[in-house]
This record gives sequence, C-alpha cells and structure tokens, in this order.
Amino acid sequence: MNIRIFLAGIGLLLTPTFGQARPLPAPDYSAQEVEKGRYLAVAGDCAACHNAPKETGGAMMAGGYPIVSPLGSIYSTNITPSRRYGIGAYSEGEFARALRDGIRRDGASLYPAMPYTAYAGLSDADVHNLYAYFMSAVKPVEKAAPQTSLPFPFNIRASMRAWNALFLNSKPVKQIAGHDAQWNRGKYLVDTLGHCSTCHSPRGFLMQEKSNSALSGGPLGAWYAPNITSDQISGIGGWSRQEIAQYLSTGRVAGKAQAAGDMAEAVTHSFSQMNKADIDAMAAYIATVPAVREPGDTRPAYSWGKAVNSEAAIRGSSTALEGARLYSGVCAACHGRNGDGAPDGVIPSLYHNSTIGASRTHNLIAVILHGVDRTVGGHHVLMPGFGEGSFVQSLTDRQVASLATYLRHSFGPGDDVSEAEVSVARAQSSTSILLLLARTGLVIAALLIFGLAIWRLRRRKEKFS
Ligand code: HEC
Ligand code: HEC
Ligand code: HEC
Repeated sequence: MNIRIFLAGIGLLLTPTFGQARPLPAPDYSAQEVEKGRYLAVAGDCAACHNAPKETGGAMMAGGYPIVSPLGSIYSTNITPSRRYGIGAYSEGEFARALRDGIRRDGASLYPAMPYTAYAGLSDADVHNLYAYFMSAVKPVEKAAPQTSLPFPFNIRASMRAWNALFLNSKPVKQIAGHDAQWNRGKYLVDTLGHCSTCHSPRGFLMQEKSNSALSGGPLGAWYAPNITSDQISGIGGWSRQEIAQYLSTGRVAGKAQAAGDMAEAVTHSFSQMNKADIDAMAAYIATVPAVREPGDTRPAYSWGKAVNSEAAIRGSSTALEGARLYSGVCAACHGRNGDGAPDGVIPSLYHNSTIGASRTHNLIAVILHGVDRTVGGHHVLMPGFGEGSFVQSLTDRQVASLATYLRHSFGPGDDVSEAEVSVARAQSSTSILLLLARTGLVIAALLIFGLAIWRLRRRKEKFS
C-alpha cells in the first residue's frame, strides 16, 4: 500500500478522537497574563454573545446564541479551546486576525455580528493576554454550535471584504499627545473593548459608523442609544465625570438616568465588573467627546422637572387623561402618585429622568413594554415589562401610548405619543444590537448583488446598442 495513503488513513482515523479527547497542551502562561485576559474578556463582553443560551445549558463561551434576522439566524461560535469544535487550533496570530480583521482561521470573513470593527484597535499585548486566557482558563466544550446558514446572497461572506476595505481600520488605537495617560487609557477602552460606538454612533448608508458624528446616538430596534457627546443640551455635557463613572458601574444616577435594555446588559455583564481606575478613565475620555447638537433640542433630557400642576399637564388631551388613570392603576404603586419614586432611590423619580425628557420617545415606550432588568454586585434591579406575556398586565398599544403621553405632558417636553409609534416599537426585538450588527452583513451582501445586477444590465445594454 502506498505509504502516504496509509498515513493519511491513520490520520483520518485518529483526528476526531484525538481532537475530541485532548486539547493541545497549552503553553505555560503566567497567572498574571491569564488574569489580565479574563478581565479583558469581561471588558469586551465576549460572554454576552458567546455563552451558550441558558436553555441549552449556558456553557461558557460554547456559542450557539442566535441572532435572529428575518432571513435566518446568525449563531455565535464555540470559542472554547476545543480543537474540534472551538478555537483550540487557532494560533495567536490567527486569533488576532479574527479579533481585529474579522477573518476566521479558514480564511472566511466573519459577519460583523462579531464586533471586530471595535476590537480592531486592540493592542498586541491585550490580544496576547486574551489568547492566554481563552487557551488555558476556558474549559473546552466538545460540542458544535449550530451552523449559520443564510440564504443566497446573504451567505456570501466574501462581500464583507469589500466593506472591510472601505471602513475597517485595524490599526492599534494610538496614544494622542497632549492628553494624559488616564484620558488615553479611557479612549482606548471606549474605542475597543467597550465598543460604545457600536450602539451609540449613527450609521451611514452602508451601515458604517459615521466617524464625524461619533457617539451622537443611534437606534437599536425598540431602544435608542442616546447622544453621549459632550454637548450641553443634546448630549451629556451637563453630567459630571463622577456621574458618568457611576452610571457605567451601577447603571443609575439619581436625577439623571437609569440603564435599561442593551445598556443594562452591558452594565450587568461588563462595565459593573471593571475596576474603578478603568471606569474613571472611560468617564474622563467620554466627557471630552466633541459635542454634537441635534436640531430642535432645547434643553437636556434629564432637566425636565416636576409638572407644576398635573391638571394643567393633561388639560386638553383626552389621551393624557386616560394615561393619568392608567398611571394611578399600574405605575403609581411603585413610582408614587406624583412620580416622586422612592426616597432611597431604588425606584427613580419620573421627573429629572432622561428616558421621559428625551426628544425621542423610543426608550420611554421600550421601558413600558420591556421593563428594566439589571444586576450589579449581586443586587437585582427589576421593573416588570407591560408588553406581551407580562407577568403583571399586558397593555395595548393604545394604553401604552396614552401612558407615555401622560408622562411626556407631566414630566417631559409635552408632546403626544401615538399608537403607531408603540406598534412599531412592539414589532422590534427587545435586545436588538445583535440584530443591527447582523443587518450590517445583510445590507452589504444585498448591495453587492444589486450592484452586480446593474453592472450586468449595463453590459447587456452596451452589447445591444
Ligand atoms: C455582539 C456579539 C459578540 C461579541 C460581544 C463577541 N463576539 Fe465573537 N463572534 C460573534 C459571532 C456572531 C461570531 C460568528 C460570526 C460568523 O459566523 O460570521 C463570532 C466569532 C468569533 C470568533 C471566530 C471563531 C470561529 O472560528 O468561528 C472569535 C475568535 C471570536 N468571536 C472571539 C471573540 C472574543 C475574544 C470576544 C470578546 C473580546 C468576542 N468574540 C465578542 C459575536 C460576538
Ligand atoms: C449594546 C449597546 C450599548 C453599548 C455597547 C453601550 N451603550 Fe450606552 N446606552 C445604550 C442604550 C440602549 C441606552 C439607553 C438606556 C435607557 O434609556 O435605559 C444607553 C444609555 C447610555 C447613557 C445614558 C445617556 C442618557 O442621556 O440617558 C450613557 C451615559 C451611556 N449609555 C454611556 C455608554 C458608554 C460610555 C459606553 C461604552 C463604555 C456605552 N454606553 C456602551 C446602549 C449601549
Ligand atoms: C414593581 C415596581 C414598578 C412598577 C409597577 C413600575 N416601575 Fe418603573 N421602574 C421601577 C424600577 C425598579 C426602575 C429602575 C430603577 C433603576 O434602573 O435603577 C424603574 C424605572 C422606570 C423608568 C426609567 C427607565 C430608564 O430606562 O431610565 C421609567 C420611565 C418607568 N420606570 C416608568 C414606569 C411606568 C410608566 C410604569 C407603569 C406602566 C412603571 N414604571 C411601573 C419599578 C417599577
């Protein structure tokens, strides 16, 4: 028998069992490298997407979290050091390429559902520590995550190459002269692992983040990630650095805002577990992000105070009147008859509350539908949602609209919220950052095909003319 075929045969016989039973012996990483890597994985919130869904056991980094889109699901992959099902066979260089360039070990492009556009700026040292952590401290899970299979043309991963060529900047974040070490550290964390801009930056025609208006706000399905530039009116220029830091590490600043939706998840799984020095650094940088003013804004979202007279607030609006009645029945038990909240701050006041005073009504509608769910330091903050399947009471679109209208009249800019707005919000998924990212890939593939079709058509016309 030909010796090569013989060896290949043995190889084939051995690979599956070999790969399954024994991960390659990890090179010796120091406890310090591994601990740094663990911390960076928390800062980058890898677990949010890569842990298996709870229903399938929730194994750490085992993948299988579905990002549902109308065209099918994109699944996060197994990134445990299993050689067969995970990233055990990745070299450090290949791991770096996946994180910074969005390229898989086999050379295929990743969908931007993996936020490599943010991780692109990671330093070599941090990639090294992350690698050390994944290879030596994450338990290998010998189970395949479900395969992503989108229909044509969305399965053309190569279309991401064109987009990457246009928009991906995978150079490590540079130190900016003229700013101190704390500010530079903050910028590095915000731009890379914190991936704030993934949610908070507006996007252009091709779903790319608009760098000239960075962090000035972006829609996230039912939620809206607000303007967090230093603008005094449209942004958070009126917040102190301490308040920004407190918001990131606890999700709550009395008299300003609370974190719900995607922000609550980021606070729970990532920011609340970061050390004080890093949080302070991020706050120091965020406080200096160039101001972006939105036309039409007249005062900061958190600044709307208590209505002088709630009768005046609802006068002339039958919707607000209906909302006032609902409020007494459904919300007042917790938030108080006059929206004062609880004195210990566990239940926020509804005045001086950015959710109600914001120019956009997204977050007010979303919080009524989906509630608040955040855990910080073992302490669970919970407001029930009042959407479908609520364990308290399911409100109709009309009821949510009249409640929101009542609140806007009493504690906010005084405009009406329509039933149509609520029905649009209800149709959106509650956690939608992933959906947004998934769409990026889909939009690009669709455009590519569209472009190709036009090009063909032109060529055909040329031929016949
Ligand atoms: C917002 C969700 C999200 C976050 C956060 C995230 N990932 Fe991913 N990641 C994904 C998805 C989805 C894929 C698969 C994409 C695809 O199939 O194209 C992926 C793929 C990968 C891959 C390629 C593995 C392979 O061979 O398929 C690596 C490596 C990876 N992620 C590492 C990380 C690390 C390390 C972190 C944290 C620093 C992280 N990811 C954070 C969603 C995420
Ligand atoms: C996964 C998406 C996501 C990421 C990542 C994210 N945010 Fe947010 N953020 C949101 C959403 C959504 C809200 C609105 C929450 C609400 O109203 O309850 C928000 C609210 C905020 C607010 C309150 C603003 C106000 O006026 O009420 C601040 C401040 C903030 N985020 C800062 C940050 C910073 C700094 C980072 C990065 C370190 C970050 N966020 C990362 C989605 C995100
Ligand atoms: C069981 C008590 C409870 C009930 C009932 C309740 N809330 Fe809340 N509400 C809370 C808690 C707790 C928070 C979050 C506090 C925090 O984030 O620190 C909250 C937060 C809010 C916020 C701020 C959310 C944000 O993202 O900033 C708004 C607005 C709000 N509630 C409105 C309502 C309305 C309207 C109703 C009635 C439909 C209602 N609440 C019913 C307990 C309750």
